[in-house]
Amino acid sequence: MLPLTPHIETLAVHAGMDGLAEAGVHVPSIDLSTTNPLSGVEAGGESYENLASGGTPEPGDSAVYQRLWQPGVARFETALAALERAEGTVAFATGMAALTATLIATVTADKPHIVALRPLYGGTDHVLASGLLGTTVTWTDLAGVAGAIRSNTGLVVLETPANPTLELTDIRAVVAAAGDVPVLVDNTFATPVLSRPIESGATLVLHSATKFLGGHGDAMGGTVSGPQEWMVRLRQVRALTGGLLQPFNAYLLHRGLRTLPIRVRAQQHTAGLIAARLNEHPALTRVLYPGLPGQDPQGLIGRQSAGAGSLIALDLGSFAAAVRFTEALRLITHAVSLGGVDSLVQHPASLTHRPVVAEARPGAGIVRLSIGLEHVDDLLDDILTALLVARVPVGAGTAARSAPLRS
Ligand SMILES: Cc1ncc(COP(=O)(O)O)c(C=O)c1O
Repeated sequence: MLPLTPHIETLAVHAGMDGLAEAGVHVPSIDLSTTNPLSGVEAGGESYENLASGGTPEPGDSAVYQRLWQPGVARFETALAALERAEGTVAFATGMAALTATLIATVTADKPHIVALRPLYGGTDHVLASGLLGTTVTWTDLAGVAGAIRSNTGLVVLETPANPTLELTDIRAVVAAAGDVPVLVDNTFATPVLSRPIESGATLVLHSATKFLGGHGDAMGGTVSGPQEWMVRLRQVRALTGGLLQPFNAYLLHRGLRTLPIRVRAQQHTAGLIAARLNEHPALTRVLYPGLPGQDPQGLIGRQSAGAGSLIALDLGSFAAAVRFTEALRLITHAVSLGGVDSLVQHPASLTHRPVVAEARPGAGIVRLSIGLEHVDDLLDDILTALLVARVPVGAGTAARSAPLRS
């Protein structure tokens, strides 16, 4: 049994694990059933009606069909809701499916206008800017939120730390400016270990669970956490549109939660050391990391979040230098995504933020590092060697590029 007020480490390990001993197992079983037997025609119909309207099954009810409800997904949802201090969580196939369902729920409530604070993840920016889902958008910053709200505004959307510049936004200030309009915070970068936006007044919290929650780069998923009333609407949208999380991925993501606090803190510790070492490096125009002096002017670390996280953006001053740096890294893999046990690097303007309009796109000299669980000295060796390459003109970097990787 969980203590009355469990710490996040205890919740991460135990939340969503109820009833295992009674079932004679130590970890949740993966139920792959796409359909479930019904006890009778009338009972089956009632269960269908309940689940397709966004309800959850009562004990003994049939789950009817995997698209409507799935026990392993529900376990993961229970666990994440506990970590986010939310009434509930609804899990989807990807972070984009989670966002899409939220926007559909907003549009169908006749509130299609969205107020969005840039920068956001490129995919989020893209779907909002495209209007594909029937939304219209006003782009703004914190100072412009109150003035941007209209009678048909359904949602204020923000990310903190933001992708990829890692700027922090004061969630409480946005919530105050938004008035009655619900605020959705993309908490993918911070995770509930560092920040729980609902405690700062946000209504909804979104994750690309593909990142830190899973933590190993092997399972896609997305989540929205918030009040029950929203969870019912989102389960209904999921049942109707089908962006459900797969049972095996639910298992992996739930397993990932168990080590989330320890991974997030270890990765953050290493990132802090790397950012401090690189700050004022002559090959860099800027190191963007909220834990560096002067980069959290509102003092949000300690008040809103428990740390600066493990993403660092480096500005190499030009596209050519960013390319030389990225392609010279040997230990750190050049790939999109973030939050896994291994460190990754990517060039946002070419990849994740490619669809963003030019004036809001990150600078061509910026690369984003996601720091993993490798030893800090090995990561620094790799980064410092690549920075040597970045500083020399194309074609003259062969000696530094062939530097062997330490085993
Ligand atoms: C901050 C953030 N939000 C949302 C998403 C979208 O999530 P997914 O790729 O799981 O659809 C991403 C993906 O990179 C992200 O970085």
